[in-house]
Amino acid sequence: MRMQKRPDAEEVRRTRDFYDWWAPFYDATNWLAARLRGASDSAERRKAVDQLGLAPGMRVLEVSCGTGTNLPLLSEAVGQAGLVAGVDISARMLRRCRNKLRRKSDQASLLLGDAAKLPFTDGSFDAVFHHGGLAELPNKRAAIAEMARVTRPGGKVVICDPGLPYDRPARWINRQMLKLQPAYAAPPPVRHLPAHAENVEVSWIRGEGWYLLEFTKSIDGA
Ligand SMILES: C[S@@+](CC[C@H](N)C(=O)[O-])C[C@H]1O[C@@H](n2cnc3c(N)ncnc32)[C@H](O)[C@@H]1O
Repeated sequence: MRMQKRPDAEEVRRTRDFYDWWAPFYDATNWLAARLRGASDSAERRKAVDQLGLAPGMRVLEVSCGTGTNLPLLSEAVGQAGLVAGVDISARMLRRCRNKLRRKSDQASLLLGDAAKLPFTDGSFDAVFHHGGLAELPNKRAAIAEMARVTRPGGKVVICDPGLPYDRPARWINRQMLKLQPAYAAPPPVRHLPAHAENVEVSWIRGEGWYLLEFTKSIDGA
């Protein structure tokens, strides 16, 4: 019998409920997963953020910002004159994010929202970052289109998520971790990029257990 695919809205609600439940454990499990891959969570996050090419005064958005571990790195890069915003579907992840920013005396505009319907006008940001979670979004094409829509023409989008390199043998630890989370076995979502994506590049981070997909929105991107 063929499995009936759940409608997108139901899938989004299920993921939101899962992260609402997981929020208290999220940071610890993330740190542990990086360690098991022989990588440092904080060093790998910095590496991913560096690919955005941020400079003081820029406006940057993290889609699915979760507990906000990347936001201080983004703030550091854009400085006081810049703007950092974060969107997430889970109120509990955002609550932890707010507390973390308060502890670090950092500031960001945080909004509750769906990656497939971002609450911003076209071209609002110089750069958009997504780090973890794309595999769980029911409509990846729509979410990536939204990330590109809110990026200004010429701006950069960086998307990172678990996956396996296709050009070399996968490491043993990464194969084991994908057995626990088979949804993450999908290839980097290059086929879902909008037509105006330019300078598309894929590299591997977190002990070759995550892809980093980057592109710029063309100057005449609609
Ligand atoms: C793996 S966590 C990544 C969190 C953070 N970016 C990080 O690097 O630690 C995935 C995040 O995606 C969020 N998320 C899941 N579905 C979403 C959706 N439809 N729209 C926005 N955020 C979503 C979850 O609530 C969760 O915070």
